[in-house]
Amino acid sequence: MTTEEIFFPESSDQRRIEELRRRIAHHDRLYYDQAKPEITDREYDALYRELVDLERAHPELVVADSPTMRVGGKHGRPQGAFEQVRHLVPMQSLDNTYSAEEIGEFVARLHRLIPEKEIPLTIEPKVDGVAIALLYEKGRLVRAATRGDGTTGDEVTRNIRTIHSIPPTLHGDFPAVLEARGEIYLPRETFARINAERDEQGLPVFANPRNAAAGSLKQLDPNIVAERGLSGVFYGFGGYEPRERLPSTQQALVEFLQSWGLPTNQKLWTAKTAAEVMSAITELGEIRHGLPFETDGAVIKVDQLVLHQQLGSTSKAPRWAIAYKYEPEQARTRLLDISVQVGRSGVLTPVAELEPVFVAGSTVARATLHNEEEIARKDLRIGDWVLVEKAGDVIPAVASVLVAERNGSERPFVMPSHCPDCGAPVSRFEGEVAVRCGNPGCPAQVRRRIEYFASRNAMDIAGLGEAVVAQLTDAGLLRDISDLYTLTAAQLLPLERMGVKSVENLLSAISESRERPLWRLLAGLGIPHVGVTAARTLASAFLTLDRLADASVEQLCDVNEIGGIMAGAIHAWFRDPVVMELIEKLRSRGLNFGARDPLESATSSGSKLLGTTWVLTGTLTILREEAADMIRLQGGKVSGSVSAKTTYLLAGEEAGSKLEKAQKLGVKVLNEEAFRHLIG
Ligand code: IVH
Repeated sequence: MTTEEIFFPESSDQRRIEELRRRIAHHDRLYYDQAKPEITDREYDALYRELVDLERAHPELVVADSPTMRVGGKHGRPQGAFEQVRHLVPMQSLDNTYSAEEIGEFVARLHRLIPEKEIPLTIEPKVDGVAIALLYEKGRLVRAATRGDGTTGDEVTRNIRTIHSIPPTLHGDFPAVLEARGEIYLPRETFARINAERDEQGLPVFANPRNAAAGSLKQLDPNIVAERGLSGVFYGFGGYEPRERLPSTQQALVEFLQSWGLPTNQKLWTAKTAAEVMSAITELGEIRHGLPFETDGAVIKVDQLVLHQQLGSTSKAPRWAIAYKYEPEQARTRLLDISVQVGRSGVLTPVAELEPVFVAGSTVARATLHNEEEIARKDLRIGDWVLVEKAGDVIPAVASVLVAERNGSERPFVMPSHCPDCGAPVSRFEGEVAVRCGNPGCPAQVRRRIEYFASRNAMDIAGLGEAVVAQLTDAGLLRDISDLYTLTAAQLLPLERMGVKSVENLLSAISESRERPLWRLLAGLGIPHVGVTAARTLASAFLTLDRLADASVEQLCDVNEIGGIMAGAIHAWFRDPVVMELIEKLRSRGLNFGARDPLESATSSGSKLLGTTWVLTGTLTILREEAADMIRLQGGKVSGSVSAKTTYLLAGEEAGSKLEKAQKLGVKVLNEEAFRHLIG
């Protein structure tokens, strides 16, 4: 983060905007696709905020696919396994603030926009759950959908029906059509129980109750959902018929929802001035940990519903509401030691070993310190008293040192000069903060590489987690990933905890992975800078591993989304003798190098979209990625932006600037129906 800021010339806002968009997209992917956020919500919000401000200063640079134009915001897009449904009214998100000053600005802005002398406001807990829309027709629950991208979400009705607190039928004097909006959450106590159970079973634990709720709702088996003990809170509406029967205020709406049997927030606050809002926020802050759900903030809403219409919204969030987020909670503890972990590419990461302390809902005993510079910047010493927090209420982090508590016995941390695992000397590449173990055969690195290769986002080999990988490498059975494919039952059976059944399962999972599509192999190889997205891009551009390995830097750069640095790194990687040897071993062990992909055979059999370049925009009834796959399957290329090289624009509903540009350039525009017809 720092290098970019230092080298970034102040005048080139455009480059900064592009950089921010890339970084936000990167963190979105980590958050949604990999459920592995690397930064806190707060850091994410800061990036987002900076982008919003820059775009405001340069409206000419705003593009339709900027993250700021996306309604889903941090809450994701439809996931695929469920039917997709369009919301009666888009589900928006909220603007966020962390400061009283901005609450003041929010109130002042309301007064500028609305002539009324007094504008009553309602303050509610911000439930940290999964947004949901429940459609009740004539009082019967007919459909439940997640937010998805704001316009279209997953249809999860069957799963929602398993939740006891959600009534299948409304009672009392309900409207003919009600699309109730709220959050599904996992009660905090249940969260703790589920994670303890998962720990015991060796399953990955959920990072926070929100992820747990989201994960539970996505279960395809409603029985599993039922076991999870989800609950809900409702605070708004989308569709509502007849309109004449709408309540006049937010407070009345919540009372109505409750009277029809829906669970709602039990306590709301009222305020007219910014100061009153802040005191409500403080009060809520004091009781929030007693609420059954995780609350990371307060939502401040204009109480009069007619004013909502007058105020309207931006492309992303309503102007009649704002979310205030609480500062993360901190706890005091001792930094007992700093251990060092060796990563897949040899990077040494210092980790804080803490005296266990309870903070924001769970006990923290370790926290990554990222790198040496970070330790120096915080001036951390072993033995220090520190403040620990949960970044974004999720990731344990050392926030600061209590310097005044020092007694002189504290020791500074020194990065080891040799790898703690294999003892090889470590080095630091110029311009990098990271220190690396230079021994490619380092057992720690080998373990990490195999874990990575087998992970869900790469080759997805069930049963090959951290513990099993360590067991196999310790037993001397694995020196690199290619060794996986020569493992035998005779080698595995003598090992501890390896019964006949588990050996059988493991071997067949490994064997099946030979047939994984090329992108998974590429994602798992650990090519520098190549994650899942780049792996998919490369696989569809080159179709076989050999073509990719042979590609020149220029050919790599020609691929959309592959920049110079990545192209150079890929090119160099394939020319490393160790890599070349590994690849030959993988080939001889029968892994799919792309020739077995349907994409490959379709293209080589000369299909009808060969030589065409496509851009997809707007909302389609199918997922964009599916449409893109159909195009690639027929030999076409898919690109992100419209240019003179574009052959077709596939335009769904609400297509925006890309459609305009295509029309200007005379690019052929197809709607979904025409597309389906063409594809056959
Ligand atoms: S009102 C137009 N009220 O937080 C959106 N949202 O971070 C109006 N949320 O999108 C939403 N508690 O999913 C509202 N009391 C509350 C809420 C709440 C949680 C969620 C909601 C929203 C997100 C924004």
